[in-house]
Amino acid sequence: MAEIDLKTDLAGIALANPVMLASGTAGYGSELAPVIELSRLGGIVLKSVTVEPSKGNREPRIWETSSGMLNSIGLENVGIEALIDRVLPELADLGLPVFASIAGETVRAFARLGAMLQSAGGFAGIEVNVSCPNVERGGIQFGVDPNATKAVVKAVRENCSLPTFVKLSAAVGDITRVADAAGQAGASGLSLINTIPGMAIDIERRRPRLGAVTGGLSGPAIKPVALKAVWDCYRATGLPIIGGGGVYDSADVVEFLLAGATAVSLGSAVFQDPTRALTVVDGLGAAIERAGATSAKELIGGLKTW
Ligand code: SIN
Repeated sequence: MAEIDLKTDLAGIALANPVMLASGTAGYGSELAPVIELSRLGGIVLKSVTVEPSKGNREPRIWETSSGMLNSIGLENVGIEALIDRVLPELADLGLPVFASIAGETVRAFARLGAMLQSAGGFAGIEVNVSCPNVERGGIQFGVDPNATKAVVKAVRENCSLPTFVKLSAAVGDITRVADAAGQAGASGLSLINTIPGMAIDIERRRPRLGAVTGGLSGPAIKPVALKAVWDCYRATGLPIIGGGGVYDSADVVEFLLAGATAVSLGSAVFQDPTRALTVVDGLGAAIERAGATSAKELIGGLKTW
């Protein structure tokens, strides 16, 4: 096999390879450190934090369906102060770029979170989560509306100069309108896609499988949806994209690169097997070669449309 260059550049952040762990799959980093050699990955996105700690939604919060995993965690998190006081000091030891993720009920909350991360330093970048389908306020209510997304991103950018990636939902009429609004407000890039709203029902008990009734679907079933979102937003905005949704193997990563992603995150696959991301990194050189390239970078947006 020829020497394959796995490096990528995500809005100025140098990644050793494009393989990342999506928010919610890596906790706050240190939980996974004893299980996998995190420094072999391109980067990780930590669980979204809000201004105040949150206990999340009532249980059950996870249900495995025949077509993927439903979750309704409801943004359980330690809160921004604990992230900065307790989590941040340990991050340098992980040896890879770490991205914070923020979520808020109001534009002001997003502004405050951005300001606090700006003063704290230490993160490679931030993900702005305007697409959680599992909370009553904030979350996807922002991400379905280009103007609301623009207001959130503007508020974050006014308070924080870290590279900012806006996590969007594909459960909108035209995702490119929201992506474009994020870009106009100064987003450095996009993170596509969040889980897709869904539900499951226990017929004997006539009850929903999830305590919050509905949740977000992830896994292989959403990969085609995610690929299209990446392809559409790449062409519409030209912004760097962290693509993800149903990524299980190295060929999946190459598909996302070809659709226009600069980095690619694993989600549900990590719950099944935390070492999966390393297997994906190990096979990436061969998958890039199968696509006729010698580097990850040259595949970005390289889809041929006949
Ligand atoms: C959750 O905490 O409910 C999942 C996070 C998300 O979908 O953004």
